Amino acid sequence: MKETIEKLLAEVEAFIPKSAEELENFRVDLLANKGKVKALFADFKNVPNEQRKEVGQLINTLKNKAQEKVDEFKAKLTSSKNQETTIDLTRTATPLRIGSRHPISIVRNEIIEIFSKIGFTVSEGPEIEDDWHNFSALNFPPEHPARDMQDTFFVESESGEMALRTHTSSVQVRIMENQKPPIRTLSPGRVYRNEAISARAHCFFHQVEGLYIDENVSFADLKQTLLYFAKEMFGEKTEIRLRPSYFPFTEPSAEMDVSCSVCSGEGCNVCKYTGFLEIMGCGMVDPNVLENCGIDSKKYTGFAFGMGVERIAMLKYKVNDLRLYSEGDVRFLEQFKSAF
Ligand code: DAH
Repeated sequence: MKETIEKLLAEVEAFIPKSAEELENFRVDLLANKGKVKALFADFKNVPNEQRKEVGQLINTLKNKAQEKVDEFKAKLTSSKNQETTIDLTRTATPLRIGSRHPISIVRNEIIEIFSKIGFTVSEGPEIEDDWHNFSALNFPPEHPARDMQDTFFVESESGEMALRTHTSSVQVRIMENQKPPIRTLSPGRVYRNEAISARAHCFFHQVEGLYIDENVSFADLKQTLLYFAKEMFGEKTEIRLRPSYFPFTEPSAEMDVSCSVCSGEGCNVCKYTGFLEIMGCGMVDPNVLENCGIDSKKYTGFAFGMGVERIAMLKYKVNDLRLYSEGDVRFLEQFKSAF
């Protein structure tokens, strides 16, 4: 029996498994319930008394050595197996998903960039406005329909009734109240109207307001400034058309159309076969508005304009549903990669 154990001990010492499977076979062969070590312990009762101590120790040594082998190689085999599966230096890296700017931000930044080249700064105002800044100072008579609940979201506050601003023209008033001419500024921002949401209308959207006040500012200056903008925004060949219109805060007032960038003015379904698309309202600041804001209307004149950012983004990117801009669907948003 002693010889059998010593032979097994030598085999255990020399054993180097090449795989986890080989190691498991070794373990089962020696240490499992029906393994050789158990069998030796079972035979132990036949060992003569004088050899018992020595043989007993030998079996224990065999058991311990076999267990040590199993433990040692188990750790090695599983850790090298892990390395194989987790670190594969030849594998292609997972691409990083880079975000992109929202199309409304891209277009707003582009508008700011274009006007900043001719000296316009950027100014902002609050989205919750009082009646004075959103309506009264801008010459809206008390009975004007835009004050109606139909169009405006009114909110109650400690200082009385306030409104979510319906246009960025409210920022004009704040600027004129606080700055002395010459003023040349652009006011981008979000505006709100009580409209049913559809492909063509939304209860919030974005505008960029422009204001230029100085001595001797004329309608010709307005026209040339807007022509410059249209060409920068939609291309050198773009033409503009000013149609007489009405806004309470400008006199005279106009709406500006640009030649359709899809058909170059030939006529298509985007421009409804007119060759032109309306993009903004504009006009000479009404002397009443200048006076309301503390600016001497005998000395100063000025022009203002306001455009919808969604409208321009729609024309630029041929997006035909306003709702896409606020749904946050990455499949839509991922299409807009830009330097701005
Ligand atoms: N505030 C007008 C709107 O929301 C747009 C507008 C028209 C702005 C004429 C102006 C302007 O500054 O002169 O529809």
